Amino acid sequence: MTATQPLQGRTIMVTGAGYGIGREAALTYARAGATVLLLGRTQEALNDTYDLIEAEQLPQAAVLPFDLESSEETPYQQLAQLIKEHFGHLDGLLLNAGVLGQRTPIDNYHADTWLKVMQINVNGQFLLIKHLLPLLHKAPADASILFTSSSVGRTGRAYWGAYSVSKFATEGLMQVLAQELENTSNIRVNAINPGATRTTMRAAAYPVENPADVTAPSAIMPLYLHLMSPAAIGIHGQSLDAQGDNAFLID
Ligand SMILES: NC(=O)c1ccc[n+]([C@@H]2O[C@H](COP(=O)([O-])OP(=O)(O)OC[C@H]3O[C@@H](n4cnc5c(N)ncnc54)[C@H](OP(=O)(O)O)[C@@H]3O)[C@@H](O)[C@H]2O)c1
Repeated sequence: MTATQPLQGRTIMVTGAGYGIGREAALTYARAGATVLLLGRTQEALNDTYDLIEAEQLPQAAVLPFDLESSEETPYQQLAQLIKEHFGHLDGLLLNAGVLGQRTPIDNYHADTWLKVMQINVNGQFLLIKHLLPLLHKAPADASILFTSSSVGRTGRAYWGAYSVSKFATEGLMQVLAQELENTSNIRVNAINPGATRTTMRAAAYPVENPADVTAPSAIMPLYLHLMSPAAIGIHGQSLDAQGDNAFLID
C-alpha cells in the first residue's frame, strides 16, 4: 500500500456503479489500486464504467448485473457464492444504489412505489449485507462497509415519502450493524451523506435546478476514499457529510 494507492490489492464492491456517484466511486477506488466489483441493474451502464476503468489501465473490474428489487434470498446467496469463488473475500462494500420514488404527499403515494423504494433502498441492502458479511469477515486486514444516507434521512421532509423513510432506515441499519460488529471484527461501518450532487437522481428531484450549479460527483470523493481506506481505521458507526459546513475534514 502506498499513499497514492491506499486500496492496492483490495477487492471492493460498489452498488449502483453504472451511474452518478457510484460510477465515480468505482473509478476512484480503481485509481487507488482496488479491484472493483461493479454491481447494478443496467448491464450497459456497468459496461461503460468497466470501459472507463480499462481505458485508464487500472486493475480489471468485474461487472455484476443484479436487481436489488429482488426480495428472494437465492440471488443474494448466488452472488455471494460467485464472489467467493472468484475473489475469496471482500475488503469493502459501498452500498450506494438507490431510487427516489415519488415526490408527493403521503396520502397520494402509490403503495407499489412505496414498497419498491423500501425494497431497493433498505431490504435489498439488508440481504446484500447478510450474505456478503462472511466475505468481509475473511478480509486479510481491515474492511469497510459504507452506507449512503441523505439529509432527508436525518430530518423528515414533506413530500419525500418512502425515500426519506428509507434513508432513516439506512441510518438505523448502519447503527445496528456497527454496534454488532464493534470489538468483534475488523469491519468498520459508516454512512455518508453525499449532499446535493450532480446526478440523474438529483435532476429528477430538482428539475428546475441548473445542473451546472450542483457539486460534481468527483468533488465528494475524498470522503468516499478516506472511509474505504485503512487510514479510517477507528472511524465506526458514524454518519458523515461529504460536503457543506459540517463536512468531515480530511488531512
Ligand atoms: N445525488 C444526490 O444529490 C444525492 C443526495 C443524497 C443522497 N444521494 C444518494 O446517493 C446514492 C447514489 O445516488 P445518485 O445521485 O448517484 O443516483 P443515480 O445516478 O440515480 O444512481 C443510482 C444508482 O442506483 C442503481 N440502482 C437503482 N435501482 C437499482 C436496483 N433495483 N438494483 C440495482 N441497482 C439499482 C442505478 O442503476 P440502474 O439505473 O441501472 O438501476 C444507479 O446506478 C443514492 O443512494 C442516493 O439516494 C444522492
